[in-house]
Amino acid sequence: MSQRVYIFDTTLRDGEQSPGVSLTIGEKVQIAQQLARLGVDIIEAGFPISSPGDFESVSAIARKVKGITVAGLARAEFKDIDRAWEAVRHAEQARIHTFIATSNIHLKYKLRMTREQVLEAAVAAVKRARLYTSDIEFSAEDASRTDFDYLCQVLAAVIEAGATTVNIPDTVGYAIPGEWGGFINDICHRVTGIEKAIVSVHCHNDLGLAVANSLAAVINGARQVEGAINGIGERAGNAAVEEVIMALHTRKDNLGFFTGARTEEIYRTSRLVSTLTGMRVQANKAVVGDNAFAHEAGIHQDGMLKERTTYEIMNPAMVGISSSNLVLGKHSGRHAFRQRLEDMGYFLSEEELNNAFASFKKLSDKKTNITGEDIEAVIEEQMSALPHSYTLEYLHISSGTAVVPTATVGLRRDEQLFEEAACGNGPVDAICKAVDKITGINCTLINWGINAVTSGKDAIGDVNLKITTDGVKVFLGRGISTDILEASAKAYVNAVNKMIHVDRTAAAKQTEQKEVEN
Ligand code: KIV
Ligand code: ZN
Repeated sequence: MSQRVYIFDTTLRDGEQSPGVSLTIGEKVQIAQQLARLGVDIIEAGFPISSPGDFESVSAIARKVKGITVAGLARAEFKDIDRAWEAVRHAEQARIHTFIATSNIHLKYKLRMTREQVLEAAVAAVKRARLYTSDIEFSAEDASRTDFDYLCQVLAAVIEAGATTVNIPDTVGYAIPGEWGGFINDICHRVTGIEKAIVSVHCHNDLGLAVANSLAAVINGARQVEGAINGIGERAGNAAVEEVIMALHTRKDNLGFFTGARTEEIYRTSRLVSTLTGMRVQANKAVVGDNAFAHEAGIHQDGMLKERTTYEIMNPAMVGISSSNLVLGKHSGRHAFRQRLEDMGYFLSEEELNNAFASFKKLSDKKTNITGEDIEAVIEEQMSALPHSYTLEYLHISSGTAVVPTATVGLRRDEQLFEEAACGNGPVDAICKAVDKITGINCTLINWGINAVTSGKDAIGDVNLKITTDGVKVFLGRGISTDILEASAKAYVNAVNKMIHVDRTAAAKQTEQKEVEN
């Protein structure tokens, strides 16, 4: 059996299902291009039938991103499969990924289908996909809680129908490594025709075991691992792709497997995903966290100075963390700026570069030394701009210990300037209320936090916040500035823009649906 493990990245599908995350098409293409540079084998670009926006982004990725397989997700329904194919068909290599739940609990409460009906739907879905392509992945959702004999029956039937990859998801993150390894081993030995398909796993991280379970599966016969960069995804997320790659790489001596990944692209990919999704990476996160290669204790520092391998099992350069954080400043030109962006994994169009360079110049008037983190913050702001959205034109605050905080806000949208003033419990509250008056949307600020992007008194403040209107849909906003109130206003406007964008897309979807029905 080959020792090559295929990496299936679902950052843009399961990862994008993280609460509050909503990426634009341009951002998704940018991430997909970086994933191709990282050398993952398959990108699950989205769920084409779920919205016109998802369809467009899968289709754009299929057309633009080369040298990689592009997969589109589809329920085991003909209309989903047809739509998925329409979206991925222009890819150099296209895959249809169809799924249906197989556990009793899902059959009874979610699908309200019998086992026979599910088996029939699974086979019919694969046969439908077979009309379009020979690269078909079938997932038995909630496999870890599925009756084993029934699961084997479904897998044998879909392989017979033409599935070339069978994915065994631990949808709810319930498995533990020893048990899961045995489960996969049994599948590899007991399913009729299993030698004709690649066995894949898709582990969720509810118990913090997603990566351990994925490795246990590989040891026991799985040859495709699904996951997302930085471990993002539904609830506690998916297996972190960068951890799986580095575990296989670093412990090749013990495990004996290899992937096609270019490990030096890991850090860049992680930063890009964190920046564009607004989901920060925890400092002590394995492989890519800020502290992953930081040594605090005196004994450790002493050891490191004498010989790096005393306390490091991976070299930071191996994951693309460079020791030099080249600083740009007021006098740096466009060429140096572009070069720095490309080193960081941002490949911008001329227009995007012009806008980013203008923001960089503005920042360099306020801040002497501009680091990679500052530039990243600027780019994030640039790239998260949505069409027909509000931008902050100006902000005036009156606040202090003896006055009622008041904010006057000017927002621009499509050449029109809107202005409003409001009082609040504090200056941030006043800003939010003034913005709400302009947009006509009453949002609740769920939380607000600030980090300094770099050190120093002139550091950029990076505000992250969450808003909601109904307590269910949550939108993340991020804003940066050397002035923290301006950063707060930008973050709030950013979150409101995302909310408006999602509502607009949903409205477009409804119209499209009506047109189809008429
Ligand atoms: O978690 C899950 O089961 C999934 C499937 C669609 C593969 O995301
Ligand atoms: Zn999942």
